[in-house]
Amino acid sequence: MTPRTRRGPALPDFPWDSLADHAAKARTHPGGVVDLSMGTPVDPVPPLIRTALSSVADQPGYPTTHGTPELRSAVVGSLARRYGLAGLDPAAVLPTIGSKELVGWLPTLLGLGPGDVVAIPELAYPTYEVGALLAGASVVRLADGEEPPAGTALVWLNSPSNPTGRVLSASAMAAAVSAARAVGAVVASDECYLALSWDATPVSVLDPAVSGGSLDGLLAVHSLSKSSNLAGYRAGFVAGDPELVADLLERRKHAGMIMPRPVQAAMTAALSDDEHTTAQRDRYAARRAVLLPALRAAGFTVDHSEAGLYLWSTRGENSWDTVGWLAERGVLAAAGTFYGPRGERHVRIALTASDERIAAAVERLA
Ligand SMILES: Cc1ncc(COP(=O)(O)O)c(C=O)c1O
Repeated sequence: MTPRTRRGPALPDFPWDSLADHAAKARTHPGGVVDLSMGTPVDPVPPLIRTALSSVADQPGYPTTHGTPELRSAVVGSLARRYGLAGLDPAAVLPTIGSKELVGWLPTLLGLGPGDVVAIPELAYPTYEVGALLAGASVVRLADGEEPPAGTALVWLNSPSNPTGRVLSASAMAAAVSAARAVGAVVASDECYLALSWDATPVSVLDPAVSGGSLDGLLAVHSLSKSSNLAGYRAGFVAGDPELVADLLERRKHAGMIMPRPVQAAMTAALSDDEHTTAQRDRYAARRAVLLPALRAAGFTVDHSEAGLYLWSTRGENSWDTVGWLAERGVLAAAGTFYGPRGERHVRIALTASDERIAAAVERLA
């Protein structure tokens, strides 16, 4: 018998693989490619974080899955200082190895499986769907304001949104929370772009205006990748409903999902300092201030994009035609269809490139 080499659910093709031909075309530009297809940070890791990382390089023992007490109180302190979220119990905080792994495994860690439904936004970060498929659950995409169907066990919110940069008002978030609670679903709010807002102020699911003052069934998922340039370190956390967090801790302990000790120290330092996050935010704001008018002048319409790291842009044509048009100018963007069928006329253009590369894109669009 031939052994099976592949088991488990079929997963979608990795979307970025389908950009290969356009990437090859963009790379032939004499001025080099301007790659705006991924939201990967390019600015330096702040020195205070590097120092903290290396300060615990000689710790041979296992770190704890729950993270150091210093790390958890730094999370609580940063949520209070940065977003006015007071009174969170440090026990209800759990470090994650970046947020993507939590997004990918949350349905499984919550015990979801066949027969359960995971509700995701109509246009969404692809890993929400992948996480549901890994658990054997099914996925429903909800249009704006649409309520989750009976049988929904988990609802993902994402404000500011990847890919659209859309910010949900506190009342829209509160309505989504009530609708989820009405069907007994957990709400996971992916807040990895919360610190990066331009024309609207996003709120956390933990804000009393959204939660109604109860953390029941609520999880806020945070990442330091974009706000502190720590994508390479893999640093994130989840916080919220104490019982849910305790359950996740239990399962993650057994599964060995432990943040490395040096990263715990780096994250503690990053969350205890707001100067570097403000400086990074200003860098992205400056890039947005030149790229957004350049896209409009080149005939693009930029929808939403009031916060976060992306300009959700359309030329009123099929998204792959726009990806091709940009690639001829040496600029690489992500096709809107990576995020759901409703993205078929948009491309997602990231602000995560150096000032020099953004200036090159602006020149090519002119
Ligand atoms: C909406 C969203 N969630 C989660 C992530 C994962 O981020 P990380 O794993 O770096 O924390 C990303 C990354 O781009 C994202 O856009």
